[in-house]
Amino acid sequence: MQLSTKHLLGIRDLQPQDIQIILDTAIQFKEVLQRPVKKVPSLRDITIVNLFYENSTRTRISFELAEKRLSADTINFAASASSVSKGETLLDTVNNILSMKVDLVVMRHSASGAPHFLAKHIPAAIINAGDGINEHPTQALLDAFSIRENLGGLEGKRIAIIGDIMHSRVALSNIYLLKKMGAEVMVSGPPTLIPKYMEEAFGVKVEYNLKKALQWCDVANVLRIQLERQNQVLFSSLREYNLAYGVKRELLDSIGKEIILMHPGPINRGVEIDSDVADSKQSIILQQVENGVAVRMAVLYLLGGGKVQQN
Ligand code: CP
Repeated sequence: MQLSTKHLLGIRDLQPQDIQIILDTAIQFKEVLQRPVKKVPSLRDITIVNLFYENSTRTRISFELAEKRLSADTINFAASASSVSKGETLLDTVNNILSMKVDLVVMRHSASGAPHFLAKHIPAAIINAGDGINEHPTQALLDAFSIRENLGGLEGKRIAIIGDIMHSRVALSNIYLLKKMGAEVMVSGPPTLIPKYMEEAFGVKVEYNLKKALQWCDVANVLRIQLERQNQVLFSSLREYNLAYGVKRELLDSIGKEIILMHPGPINRGVEIDSDVADSKQSIILQQVENGVAVRMAVLYLLGGGKVQQN
């Protein structure tokens, strides 16, 4: 099995067949992760640099663990502790790292398009670990894997993405992926946090009433308010946001069915989701994190395993 691309820059660039291959390969790696010895030699001769220009907990640990489980050599780079603070450019930094014979670059950056820029200038394969408000492809893949695991598939399933759609790379990658795989998608949140023309541009439903969105869906993927990406006031207060769009037990009990709850993390308890709901049996938040390792192993294996069709 081989992917149609050398890089993973975004879900937008993938074919449905690529997504299928990644998700199916991740099933095999999830099985590896259940074994007493959770390590395989698949990437033994591969060197990977994790290039993080923006903070991360889950994605960074998950990639590093996935690389170690595949026996790759890994280097971790945090921009805050590097010569970036002395004025070195992104391209100079990466070219210096590549001269040390690196095969794969995993990159997170606050600027949308940073990994795409890099992919045009360096020979290594690039995996986007989140770029600005653009895409977070491995998050969408692990979300899809988790939905498949719980509902048996994606086709025809109803997924509501709730909250700050405007500033969310998770939302955009999820929309691309779910639509490519035949799911129905709705976005829900305050009008100020949902871009105009979502229906026309992406073929998703828009619902400003949270209760109606929860009644419609099989799965609600709840997003954090991305305050760090907002340069103007888009809602009155976090308390009022919680009252109107926070996912609460009382609200869930009122919709007359049991839906699955997801969240990419980090969670702001008491803002977009109440604490008891985040920790309830309806929530698969930690299952998403667990699946992230297997999904990232699959992506790394497919891009670094020498079976990739070169662009
Ligand atoms: N979901 C996610 O990207 O979390 P981190 O920012 O902690 O990596």
